[in-house]
Amino acid sequence: MKVRKTMAAALAALLGVGLLAGCGSGSSNQPTAKSQDNSAAGGDVIKVGANYELTGGIATFGNSSVNGIKLALEEFNQAGGVNGKKIELVTADNKSDAAEATNAMTKLVTQDKVVAVLGPVASSNVLAAEPVATQNQIPLVTSSATNPKVTVDPATNKTRDWIFRTCFIDPFQGDVAARFSFNDLKAKKAAIYVDQSSDYSKGLAEAFKSGFTKLGGEIVSEEAFVAKDTDFKATLTKIKAKNPDVIYVPAYYEEVGKIIRQARELGLTQPIVGGDGFDSPKLLEIAGKSALTNVFFTNHYTTMDTSPVVQEFVKKYKDKYGQEPDALAALAYDAAKVLFEAIKTAGTPDPVKIKDALAATKDFKGVTGTITLDAQHNPVKSAVIMEYNNGALKFRTRVEP
Ligand code: PHE
Repeated sequence: MKVRKTMAAALAALLGVGLLAGCGSGSSNQPTAKSQDNSAAGGDVIKVGANYELTGGIATFGNSSVNGIKLALEEFNQAGGVNGKKIELVTADNKSDAAEATNAMTKLVTQDKVVAVLGPVASSNVLAAEPVATQNQIPLVTSSATNPKVTVDPATNKTRDWIFRTCFIDPFQGDVAARFSFNDLKAKKAAIYVDQSSDYSKGLAEAFKSGFTKLGGEIVSEEAFVAKDTDFKATLTKIKAKNPDVIYVPAYYEEVGKIIRQARELGLTQPIVGGDGFDSPKLLEIAGKSALTNVFFTNHYTTMDTSPVVQEFVKKYKDKYGQEPDALAALAYDAAKVLFEAIKTAGTPDPVKIKDALAATKDFKGVTGTITLDAQHNPVKSAVIMEYNNGALKFRTRVEP
């Protein structure tokens, strides 16, 4: 079933290429037939796609992101757009699923004829959308996918020409968690509990392990689950027997919420540490207030940052949506602005020119930090460490790269 779905997605991607292949889009200076189509099709608007997790296992991530993008869009268009032309957003729901992320990308590119795409959130979903972007030569900017493979092909070690990100990467994020666990929590023995179905989770586990062992810590238990699992007690019991000082769970809120609740029910009182995947109001709902204590996670930004640029954004977002912007919202707001500025710099909705402008992104002052993209299409940004005690979230510290 799963295989069939993936094959169908691959076929759809190939068809997408087929439809556009006759355009000779190889040259980097000449506007391609494809891009002329795009501008012609849009008339007075320039279409940008948003491929996000609007339903499914990580739906709060996708919805926050699209909220952030819409705020950026409104501001950008009000400020004059691209030489008077407005940008129009076309959203597609990838249902928090890799095969669906491929389908959504294909639809945006071949049917909606967007000139660039924002999203998805999850690394595995971006990796599933990547072949469609690359083959059709449409820039993809992810606001939040942190796995290194997203922008650099591990097989060739080459930067993927059409893929960009505006967030930090997991070798940094995992190392921050390792240093915090060892130095601040004084942990010497760690257990790692990883989501085997997620590139994000596996990459973060690897980074934590390498950082923690380098400091002299020991990994006493490595266990795995897969997304959508609901009963973690047997494995947590195994972890408990190893008596770790800290449990690192680099995964998303839906499973993490259940893991935290069940760990506490089993009497595991140790600190539980994780990454940006904890950042959802659903975490508290699922774990419950009393279980959500002695819990720490690395993240990209916090509303508790008192800097004017953050506070101004928080106010605008709250006025528009009546809720606090989480990191996903702030990240996507920044990613959208970076992309819109690149389209403006390109001056025409030519994907090749947009890609070149994206690659040249320098000193962009965002809500989540200053963004300069390096040769691997990654920015260098700081992380924050957040702490939950009895369900209440607190800003613990900021870690510079
Ligand atoms: N970094 C996660 C990934 O790559 C996505 C994410 C980012 C989730 C920010 C929450 C907050 O899959």
